[in-house]
Amino acid sequence: MNDLSGKTALVTGSSRGIGRAAGLTLAARGANVIFHGVRESDKLRSAVAEAGPGACFAAGDLGSAEELGALIETLRTRGALPDILVLNASVQSYTGLENFESGEFLRMFRTNVESSCILLRELLPEMRKKKSGRVIFVGSINGIQPASRLAVYGAAKAALMNIARTAAMENAPFGITVNTILPGVIETDRNAAVLKDESFAEKLKAQIPMHRFGSSQECADLIAFLASDSAGYITGAEIPIAGGWQL
Ligand SMILES: NC(=O)c1ccc[n+]([C@@H]2O[C@H](COP(=O)([O-])OP(=O)(O)OC[C@H]3O[C@@H](n4cnc5c(N)ncnc54)[C@H](OP(=O)(O)O)[C@@H]3O)[C@@H](O)[C@H]2O)c1
Repeated sequence: MNDLSGKTALVTGSSRGIGRAAGLTLAARGANVIFHGVRESDKLRSAVAEAGPGACFAAGDLGSAEELGALIETLRTRGALPDILVLNASVQSYTGLENFESGEFLRMFRTNVESSCILLRELLPEMRKKKSGRVIFVGSINGIQPASRLAVYGAAKAALMNIARTAAMENAPFGITVNTILPGVIETDRNAAVLKDESFAEKLKAQIPMHRFGSSQECADLIAFLASDSAGYITGAEIPIAGGWQL
């Protein structure tokens, strides 16, 4: 039920962090994984090498309509339209409601929200034709609860949850499931600098019922489960993976 042989998976933002772990886990279960990052990089090449035969990469800034268009064209040309789409990449900046800049607001919404809609628009028709598919959004606990200076990022994640629910409803008759995972604090490059401050990290852990941060692998295992046949009757779900932080 967990074997993904013969499936093609695109994991956006998989040069590092949660996306990389997800790509490697899907590959270990037999999927042909397309790793993705903003630019070609050694990180992308090493992820492909670690995943083994069947893996490749494609690059492009999801905040740029041109680069996103070129990425989709590359997938079409390679005949590599995904059966499993993991919408993981995001940009996140801390900005107050009292002083955010419109350019940054738009960058977060373009990169995080619009690109996901474009990828769904372009990639769902092939899944519908095949009458099967898996879409997994990587949301955030910030999509359901407020955090200081993360209103714009949180709003983008909340918007994605509504989009995911709508896509789940509209595509269920085609055998396509659409689910969202909601990570809490997961140790990745994204928060490495801030978590280096031990007293801040301890204070944060104290707010999490499990008193620890999560790992990329824990997120990857949940993503791989949602991508598998075992999760065939789960759609429109929003699953916190946060050590109980949402409680
Ligand atoms: N880490 C956490 O605690 C946490 C908590 C809640 C939710 N999340 C969510 O989980 C997902 C992954 O987070 P992470 O911590 O693993 O992230 P990360 O370590 O910061 O990695 C980000 C990934 O996204 C790619 N990326 C960044 N900007 C991009 C752009 N403009 N266009 C295309 N790709 C871009 C990066 O590619 P390059 O390497 O080429 O830059 C990289 O592969 C995100 O959606 C994040 O919001 C994370």
